[in-house]
Amino acid sequence: VTEPDLKGRHVVVSAGGTREPLDPVRFLGNRSSGKQGYALARTAAARGARVTLVAANTTGLPDPAGVDVVQVGTAVQLREAVLKAAAEADAVVMAAAVADFRPATYAAGKIKKQDGQDPEPVVLIRNPDILAEISADRARPGQVIVGFAAETDDVLANGRKKLQRKGCDLLVVNEVGERKTFGSEQNEAVVLGADGTETPVPYGPKEALADMVWDLVAERLG
Ligand code: C5P
Repeated sequence: VTEPDLKGRHVVVSAGGTREPLDPVRFLGNRSSGKQGYALARTAAARGARVTLVAANTTGLPDPAGVDVVQVGTAVQLREAVLKAAAEADAVVMAAAVADFRPATYAAGKIKKQDGQDPEPVVLIRNPDILAEISADRARPGQVIVGFAAETDDVLANGRKKLQRKGCDLLVVNEVGERKTFGSEQNEAVVLGADGTETPVPYGPKEALADMVWDLVAERLG
């Protein structure tokens, strides 16, 4: 039996991975499956929250029951959807893998190879950092903001730096490994708090990590 400790709360979760188009058929993307974000949306709904799930390229995952799903493709679209939903949210959890860069230009027609010619280089420009933006400019006083970070080394030290840089309240730090994180049903993480707390979450189902995140969010919402 789950306690409805998020009843009366509105939470926003982003999930999946953005795709940044080069032309009508090609994009730069990443390996995020969206499973952790969907687990966050399901567990929040089970705990009584009204949930808006901003889903980037998560085809194949069923819409969680009772959750408002907004489908997006690119980082710019994800930003727009998150800002809109965050305006009246008690908490925002950015579980989506957002592309840091996008192609500077979009070719309206499919890019063709030219006989005997080298390809044009792809020029990238910076995408907005949505997590940093919503953390610096809170839509509501007391709004709790959670970020995710996948690190390969010096996980805790790099996580602490990222938490500070982003300005969020909690950062879920994953060590990226072979059986962990991308596409898997399992996850393992440490949740760092801006207040100096450090909560290890042992290897286990993505639901268990999701519930721990909501425990920490609920504590901070008071
Ligand atoms: O900087 P890095 O990509 O490692 O940060 C990861 C966290 O920041 C995730 O919570 C992700 O959703 C968020 N992010 C963002 N906008 C970006 C890049 C990442 O909100 N452009």
